[in-house]
Amino acid sequence: MRILVVHGPNLNMLGKREPAVYGLKTLAEIDALVNRRAGELGVEVTAFQSNGEGDLVGFLQDNDDADGLIVNPGALTHYGLSLRDAIASFAKPTVEVHLSNVYAREEFRHTSVIAPVALGQISGFGWRSYLAALDILVDVLKGGRQ
Ligand code: DQA
Repeated sequence: MRILVVHGPNLNMLGKREPAVYGLKTLAEIDALVNRRAGELGVEVTAFQSNGEGDLVGFLQDNDDADGLIVNPGALTHYGLSLRDAIASFAKPTVEVHLSNVYAREEFRHTSVIAPVALGQISGFGWRSYLAALDILVDVLKGGRQ
């Protein structure tokens, strides 16, 4: 079982970027934690970050044999329609994650164009959002949803 972990714009700056909002861990540290948990769960993860929406779309197209997706679309959450369409086309169980609680922030962050093509969303638990998403997604993929 292979799961894609996709990070959108500005998430390469984690650790330095608004640490009071996004925490102190770098993206590499988060990916390492996700990888370790994936190992415990017996699944493979492929992580990818880009600041460009087209690169994210291309990554999903190139990896359409994967079994599921964890995506933090960054600001593309709120307007990234080509990313949304790529996730719809990928058509595998998808969990949208956010480090911050987007609903406790500015109004423009309260709308997600990604949520309708995701199974669900985890928002507000910092790096733990990714680990929660992985646990849930693997459980779903192993047939634990019902
Ligand atoms: C974010 C929330 C978005 O609104 C923001 O643009 C980000 C990060 C989060 O993880 O909390 O870049 O997706």
